Amino acid sequence: MLTQLIHTKNLNDSEILALLERANAFLHQEATPPNLTHKRIVALFFENSTRTIASFQMAASRLGAYFSVFNVQKSSASKGETLLDTLHNLEAMGLDLLITRHHHSSSAIYFAKHLNCAFINAGSGTLAHPTQALLDLLTLYNHFKGALEGKTIAIVGDIKNSRVANSNMELLPRFGMRVILVAPPHFLPPTSLPTTHSLQEALEVADVVMGLRTQTERHCLQTYGSLKDYAKDFCLRGALLGKRQIPILHPGPVHRNIDIEDALLDDPRCQVLEQVKLGVFLRMALMESMLAS
Ligand code: CP
Repeated sequence: MLTQLIHTKNLNDSEILALLERANAFLHQEATPPNLTHKRIVALFFENSTRTIASFQMAASRLGAYFSVFNVQKSSASKGETLLDTLHNLEAMGLDLLITRHHHSSSAIYFAKHLNCAFINAGSGTLAHPTQALLDLLTLYNHFKGALEGKTIAIVGDIKNSRVANSNMELLPRFGMRVILVAPPHFLPPTSLPTTHSLQEALEVADVVMGLRTQTERHCLQTYGSLKDYAKDFCLRGALLGKRQIPILHPGPVHRNIDIEDALLDDPRCQVLEQVKLGVFLRMALMESMLAS
């Protein structure tokens, strides 16, 4: 049984497929969620979140588990308590699962090393965001009715600074998908994957496109004159997509008209809210696999 999810590599392919199937069974009400009323889950987020924290909370509620969001700003960290002592104190209260988000890439490895309870990384610096990649995979798995082999995804934007891109670059090729990275040179990481600076060129061959937010909080140099300059070349627009019936994904938060133009967010090809919906069921399946015994 999985007890620590730091990155998608912690799960093998058959475990992942089982999670997708279980999430779909919850989605279609073909399975009764387990009763986890005796389980205690805490979310410890040092970075802001809309989707991830609410999604875990909704998922925990559907499983009947106790869920608490620990308020870092009001904690005794401001009085000099160390991170390690914070962890040990939370765990001493009888914690079953800790879910964390932190701006340092190595944070998830540190948390996992020092915890005895189950652990999920909900975003650690640029390292990984495994539950986002798993819900992206579920969205694609459902859209293509399981036939992912040979499909091409264009991931567009600030790839170098994106933990979502990092997790998807690890996960999606395991299910037969070809990944093309589309970005200006300074947003591309060192990679063996195909890359291009031309969004149009990538869209000509893509079966699906995923936009990313420019992670301005992680930029140490000004990389563009303005985000509008960046958007001229890399914003996903209806005019570029034409009539191609390909799904459009984005992990959120979206910078409207920088990452994706307004009109495309309302287009039937846009899967952004479908991703959010499926995320709840994926997280239910994941927490069940870690906590139900
Ligand atoms: N996709 C995602 O991680 O969104 P939040 O930052 O709102 O959690």
